[in-house]
Amino acid sequence: ALVARHRMQSSGKWARTMAILKELEETCGTPIGKLKQIADAMTVEMHAGLASEGGSKLKMLISFVDNLPTGDEKGLFYALDLGGTNFRVLRVLLGGKEGHVVKQEFKEVSIPQDLMTGTSQGLFDFIATALAEFVSTEGEGLHVSSGRQRELGFTFSFPVRQTSIASGNLIKWTKGFSIEDAVEQDVVGELTKAMERMGLDMRVSALVNDTIGTLAGGRYHNQDVIAAVILGTGTNAAYVERANAIPKWQGLLPKSGEMVINMEWGNFRSSHLPLTEYDQALDVESKNPGEQIFEKVISGMYLGEIVRRVLYRMAEEASFFGDTVPPKLNIPYILRTPEMSAMHHDTSSDLKVVGNKLKDILEITNTSLKMRKVIVEVCDIVATRGARLSAAGIVGILKKLGRDTVRARNTQKSVIALDGGLFEHYKKFSGCMESTLKELLGEEVAENIIVEHSNDGSGIGASLLAASHSQYHEVEEP
Ligand code: GLC
Repeated sequence: ALVARHRMQSSGKWARTMAILKELEETCGTPIGKLKQIADAMTVEMHAGLASEGGSKLKMLISFVDNLPTGDEKGLFYALDLGGTNFRVLRVLLGGKEGHVVKQEFKEVSIPQDLMTGTSQGLFDFIATALAEFVSTEGEGLHVSSGRQRELGFTFSFPVRQTSIASGNLIKWTKGFSIEDAVEQDVVGELTKAMERMGLDMRVSALVNDTIGTLAGGRYHNQDVIAAVILGTGTNAAYVERANAIPKWQGLLPKSGEMVINMEWGNFRSSHLPLTEYDQALDVESKNPGEQIFEKVISGMYLGEIVRRVLYRMAEEASFFGDTVPPKLNIPYILRTPEMSAMHHDTSSDLKVVGNKLKDILEITNTSLKMRKVIVEVCDIVATRGARLSAAGIVGILKKLGRDTVRARNTQKSVIALDGGLFEHYKKFSGCMESTLKELLGEEVAENIIVEHSNDGSGIGASLLAASHSQYHEVEEP
């Protein structure tokens, strides 16, 4: 009788688990028709965001970058990259025409959690301290000529309303940062004050978003680069727009006729987006409810958390892990995307990576192979949705630029520079993103659209833009 009862319970468990799984699969569905609607909606919102300030959820921020690197940039420059869980400081020696990046050195520092939600001074003092320390290691080969002020390209990967190439006010925080007194402040001013407090004499000559840095770094190596996409802790895109296609731009028409736009596509939202009850709850409980919805279904900060929420429901409603809900499973953000990725990529026949992760992170032991397979399936559904949506976003940009169709004799290449940990390390994600891009564009068009991994373009890009906006104008004349 006991065995029979157990069997019945167990079959109830599986029936309920499969129902939850099936529902997840359905609500996360991204059939091609839906993706096309999303790409179209992205294009529409781009137009609206360019037309007027506040005209769309897409802020379409003007970067003040109207010239991308040419290869002539020369000299020693610093870069500071802030925007994820780590920040990095770099020293880059640019060689001008022939040399390109002659030498680079960097240091990476992880940001203590409490500084992400503390005060502006707390965060910027921490950064300036690390920067000062790094500057003090300026060596024999790599040093600024005497009498010359050090210059910095500051990659600050949050939405900023720029007032010039080297100043701008923070609009809001994203990605788990929340420092109230920094909002609306000029972030270059805040950094400069902190550097002064540390006795560091350095000038910020370019303030850029990571997408802008990646675009600049990508263009430096490949002149066909027209857009950049970040798939990391957060997600965003930037691209080169015609200046006269930006009605809200009040300034002079740049000589180049071009302006780089930071889309802040993480804040994109559309009724076509496939959202689930897990997304809804994640959003409501997040630090920025109602905002960054596209980012919350795509980017690395959130994918693992979505999976955790699905597993929690399975535990609670289907007794998936037994009679009680494993306590650790109730801790938000305990399951990180790199761990989700490791489980998703487990190729062992008994899925032992999945088993070990469950044990190490969630203290769940004795999972059957059948259970592990369900967990891999959950990872697959969540990652696939994110990857396919990011492909739709890229197609939206290509549409805006008129590069999504085969035109007569038009064989120009469009290269998209991609960067970010999610793209770089989560191979099933990037693979799915790229194959969806082909599926959406069709074979013939897809031939001319190239996705290129721009390894740390963002840091190099910031130093390149610091060089082209240097107070010493040390750019070789062509
Ligand atoms: C978030 C930020 C954005 C950044 C992106 C990738 O979406 O708001 O500025 O580019 O993350 O780091």
